[in-house]
Amino acid sequence: MQTIRINTPTRRYDVKIARGALAQAGDSLLELTKPCRAVIVTDDTVRSLYGDTLLTSLSNAGFKTALYSFPAGEESKTLTTFSDIQSFLADRKLTRSDYIVTLGGGIPGDMGGFCAACFQRGIRFIQIPTTLLSAVDASVGGKTAVNLPQGKNLVGAFYQPDLVLCDPDTLRTLPAGVFADGMAEVIKYGVIRDAEFFRFLETCDVQTSIEAIIRRCVEIKAEVVSEDERESGVRAILNFGHTLAHAIEKCSNFQIPHGRAVGIGMVLESRALYRTGYAKTDYTDRLKNLLIRHGLDTATDYSAQALYDAAIGDKKRTTDGIRLLVVEEIGKCVVKQITLADLRAFIEAAVA
Ligand code: GLY
Repeated sequence: MQTIRINTPTRRYDVKIARGALAQAGDSLLELTKPCRAVIVTDDTVRSLYGDTLLTSLSNAGFKTALYSFPAGEESKTLTTFSDIQSFLADRKLTRSDYIVTLGGGIPGDMGGFCAACFQRGIRFIQIPTTLLSAVDASVGGKTAVNLPQGKNLVGAFYQPDLVLCDPDTLRTLPAGVFADGMAEVIKYGVIRDAEFFRFLETCDVQTSIEAIIRRCVEIKAEVVSEDERESGVRAILNFGHTLAHAIEKCSNFQIPHGRAVGIGMVLESRALYRTGYAKTDYTDRLKNLLIRHGLDTATDYSAQALYDAAIGDKKRTTDGIRLLVVEEIGKCVVKQITLADLRAFIEAAVA
C-alpha cells in the first residue's frame, strides 16, 4: 500500500494506492467512520465490472448499502442526473453521518462528488477511481461538477473527499484507448514539474511500472493542490495543454475524449510557446514522440479561428484575458496572464 497525504485548507486526506484495494474498501471506510449507510454512485459499465465487489466489501464491513448507476458517458453528466441522485439520497434518508462512495472514471467521480457537496449542504464521500485518468488526476483535489449545454463542468464545487482509494488492478479492464487517455495526463505531470519522470516515461514499461507512475503523478498533484486548492495560483499549472484541449473537445462536439485532446493540446501549446518566444527551448518533437509511444494523437485539423472561438468560452478565462501556462523547458513552468489578442496570436502560431 502506498499512501500520499493531501493537505488542503478545507480537508486533509489520503490517497491510497494498492492492488486489491477495491475488495478491501469496506475496511478502509471503517478506518474513517463507524458503520453507516454508504451509497455508491457509478455508471452502468463500471457497475457491471466492479459494483458487486464493492457492495460485498462494504456490506461485509457492516455498511448498509445502496447503489445508483447511470448510463456511461458524458451525456449523463447533467443537472437531470444530479437531481435524480439527490432524490435517490433523500428517498433513502441519507444524513450527514453517511457516505457517498464514487466508483469509476471522471464522470461518476465528478457527479458523485458534486452530489456529496450539495446534499444537505455537504455529506462525506470517498472516491474510488477505476480509470488511469481519474486515478492520476480527476479523483484527487476536490474538483466536482456537472455539464451544461453551454459547456463542460460549468456547475460545480471544490469539495474534497475523505479518502481516495486506487486499485491499479481495475485498470486492467480499460480499453487501450481509454488507458492512453490517462497517459496524456501522466505525461503532463512530467512536462510541468518533473523532467526525470518525463525521461522515465520515454523508456519505461508502463504496465509493470503502473503503481510507481500513479504514485508520482499523485505526489505532484498533492503538492500543487495542497498549495492552491481553488486554482487561484499555482494549480493552473495542471492545465497545461488544456486551453486548446477544451477547444478541441468542443469543436469535435465532445467526440474526441479529454485525454486525447490534452495530448494534442500540449503539442499545439508547446509549439506556440516556442514560436511566440515564451519558451527558450523547443521540446515539441520530444513531447510528440512520447505521446506517439503511448498511443496518443499529436495534431488536429481545426482552424485557428474555430479553436479561438471555442477557447474564449473556457472557464479559465477572466474578463481581461486568459491564464496561459508557460512551460519554459520540460519540468519547469510559470503561469502568465495574457490578453485575448495575445491568445489569438498564440493559437495562430500553434496551428501555422
Ligand atoms: N485537472 C486539473 C485540476 O484538478 O486542477
